[in-house]
Amino acid sequence: GYLAATANQGQVAQIPEAAPAQTVTILYGSQTGNGKGIATTLAAQASAKGFAVNLASMADYKVRQLKQETILIAVVSTHGEGEAPDDAIELHKFLASKRAPKLEQLNFSVLALGDTSYEFFCQTGKDFSERLTALGAKELLPIVECDVDYEDAAENWQEQVLTAVEPLVQASGASVVSIDTAKSSAESEYTKQQPYEAEILVSQKLTGRDSDRDVRHVEIDLGESGIRYEAGDALGIWFTNSSGLVNEVITGLSLDANAEVTVSKQTLTLEQALLEKKELTQLYPGLVTAWAELAGNDALTAIAADKEQTRQFVLGHQLADLITQYPVTIDADKLVALLRPLTPRLYSIASSQAEVESEVHLTVALVEDEREGQTRFGGASHFLASAEEGQTVKVYVEPNKHFRLPESNDTPVIMVGPGTGVAPFRAFMQQRAADGVESDSWLFFGNPHFEQDFLYQVEWQQYLKSGELSRLDVAFSRDQAEKVYVQHRIAEQGETLWNWLQNGAHFYICGDAERMAKDVHQALINLAIEHGGLDEAGAENYLEELRSAKRYQKDVY
Ligand code: 2AM
Repeated sequence: GYLAATANQGQVAQIPEAAPAQTVTILYGSQTGNGKGIATTLAAQASAKGFAVNLASMADYKVRQLKQETILIAVVSTHGEGEAPDDAIELHKFLASKRAPKLEQLNFSVLALGDTSYEFFCQTGKDFSERLTALGAKELLPIVECDVDYEDAAENWQEQVLTAVEPLVQASGASVVSIDTAKSSAESEYTKQQPYEAEILVSQKLTGRDSDRDVRHVEIDLGESGIRYEAGDALGIWFTNSSGLVNEVITGLSLDANAEVTVSKQTLTLEQALLEKKELTQLYPGLVTAWAELAGNDALTAIAADKEQTRQFVLGHQLADLITQYPVTIDADKLVALLRPLTPRLYSIASSQAEVESEVHLTVALVEDEREGQTRFGGASHFLASAEEGQTVKVYVEPNKHFRLPESNDTPVIMVGPGTGVAPFRAFMQQRAADGVESDSWLFFGNPHFEQDFLYQVEWQQYLKSGELSRLDVAFSRDQAEKVYVQHRIAEQGETLWNWLQNGAHFYICGDAERMAKDVHQALINLAIEHGGLDEAGAENYLEELRSAKRYQKDVY
């Protein structure tokens, strides 16, 4: 017989040879877990309908299988300037390459996830759709492009896909095979939709009094929840907006805090809705457009008409700024309808359960912006930074199997984590220490000032002393006239680092995606050219091979 993975990863169901039912292959590629969530739900629905389902991350999909597929459903997100998420890179590249086969036997549908504030909205999804079509595959329904509030569109799409797929599965004339999608016991019952209400044990400042940054160490108690996580995973945080901000919004619009409003068929007071259900700290382009119209303001209308200006505007303003700078008259219902649903934020976990058991630790940078005498805060970071001991927060684990310690304890690790990017490496070090791992480990850390911003300094020094950390290289960017960053330290250590890579080391980057991760990548390229004797293309290839071999992993945001 042949095997198909079920909607439940790891579990495998046997499909009898007599019934070669058309398998619905559902692939996801996304950085945050949203794509995986949508794909997993679809897989469960398809399976409940009796379809044979194969659900997989694009990273785990063998491209040579494409020629055998008849039904392929893809959920894929887009990052930065139209880039594919890490787990989709390989498949994305393959489809554009000369190696890609004709796929005339294939029926497909794409759900693209993106953010309209970026120029290359949903580009990776569009690429998938175009390339599959160019290879002769037939698109079952037009590509669906979702913005950050994707839930409704995704639900509609799931229904449409199932309807479109049904006749194909039945036309195969095979008896339909049902696959068990029951939850495996290892999986926690707490999810994004059903989070665990955990107690906050500690929220303490890591940075010094004179630091420009406020970075917190947060400890959360998972109690008796039974929640398990691995080093490399992220924690989803459902926060509530600050009451100060909610008050400002309500009074700024001369509304009544107790006015009744409806959110997802639930009746709440306006105050409750703004505290718990609505996004107040991140604007989106559609809201700027709607606000410009409400305010009848020419300057804002001009901004809303230009994509790049809107993108900048959205980054530098919040709803509360719109209210003061562009006054409008709006009633409570209309306001609530205009605002997006609150979404949880993901934080890379800074602890290992081998060390902290039922706790989970985070390293949280408070997002704060001073403008026109007003301080505006980031939603989740402000919530966590101002949390009182004993306060609760709703959490769930978002697994990240693309950021994992090596399977073998003999493999050396190189960890590059400036700023809060150091968080998962604290988890890595705790795990390695608990496991008694003796292979070499090397941490690159960077931040503005040694005196103020050396996150977890004492812990690293202890690991160095005990030999559990072999090397630590730091880049304090503002302690001298010239900026020094982690990539400069990497370049300085070029030959040694190249030797580590030659000895099989895994290379990890965590932190800023926009600039740091790209600059570190370039430093690696330079190193492969200088010390590996490769040319530019050869160096790119080398890193691509490392990535494929899971020896080059990123957790960047
Ligand atoms: P800076 O703010 O002094 O420019 C964590 O945020 C650290 O990363 C800070 O020391 C910051 O320096 C530094 N940083 C800023 N841009 C960077 C880049 N492109 N590559 C690496 N580190 C960078």
